[in-house]
Amino acid sequence: MATRIHQRQTAGTKWDPQQYLKFSDHRLRPALELLERVPLESPRLIYDLGCGDGKMARLMAERWPDAAVFGLDNSPQMLEKAASEPSRVEWREADIHTWQPDQPPDLIYSNATLQWLDGHAALFPRLVESLADGGCLAVQMPLSWGMPSHRLMRETLADGGPEGNPLGTEILRQSMARKWVLDAADYYDLLVARSGSLDIWETEYLQVLAGDDPVLEWVTGTGLRPVLNSLAGEERETFVAEYRRRLRAAYPTRPDGHTLYPFRRLFIVATA
Ligand SMILES: C[S@@+](CC[C@H](N)C(=O)[O-])C[C@H]1O[C@@H](n2cnc3c(N)ncnc32)[C@H](O)[C@@H]1O
Repeated sequence: MATRIHQRQTAGTKWDPQQYLKFSDHRLRPALELLERVPLESPRLIYDLGCGDGKMARLMAERWPDAAVFGLDNSPQMLEKAASEPSRVEWREADIHTWQPDQPPDLIYSNATLQWLDGHAALFPRLVESLADGGCLAVQMPLSWGMPSHRLMRETLADGGPEGNPLGTEILRQSMARKWVLDAADYYDLLVARSGSLDIWETEYLQVLAGDDPVLEWVTGTGLRPVLNSLAGEERETFVAEYRRRLRAAYPTRPDGHTLYPFRRLFIVATA
């Protein structure tokens, strides 16, 4: 069952670079704050896992001009977008689940990606153990599962249809019910015996969004993709209309016309 759910969540999720990049300023800030905390002088081999449009991989290639930098993603659309900007980064299509580095990397960096993968209890130790001596694993993941925007996705799937009926398939509802990211203390327990140093923290950003239904626009670029990819026709329209109505109540427009979208993120920096 876990494998089927994972396939819906990741391999079945089509990405739209344009939609994802609509909020690039808000999305870039935690990526930069994560990079700031990487305690390496001159890494030689760097992987950006789930590199998306490649902005951070390009930045790392500029920051460490002597390093070999690889941007890895399983979305051809994202990699096409990444490769459309000139850089010396090498882009690789691969699935993080099965990816193994040819040589031990000095830095494995992964921003806003590993929440899409199951099996963190095995994945995180494997990534740290694959590092070169003194190497670093730097990860940021959104803690969005418990936020109203994501709770309302699950609730709308459960009872947003006519007469309070569920929408979508049972598999879709189960996959959306999965809590993607563990608690901070769980990552501590998983990594402390394998790490020379371990720094874990959370930050909540009070994001100020503009435009109509900006929270819907935000999740349309990320967490809502499995739902939108899975529903079709009238059922999809019913879901979006009801979900939009619930989001408007949960995230009202402020008197100045903006919408506040508090967003919590978990950061992990572990050295081997
Ligand atoms: C939310 S985007 C983050 C992109 C980029 N790291 C950023 O910070 O802008 C998540 C990325 O992870 C990729 N991804 C999801 N599951 C993956 C997997 N199993 N293997 C490789 N890439 C994956 C997606 O294709 C997408 O580009």
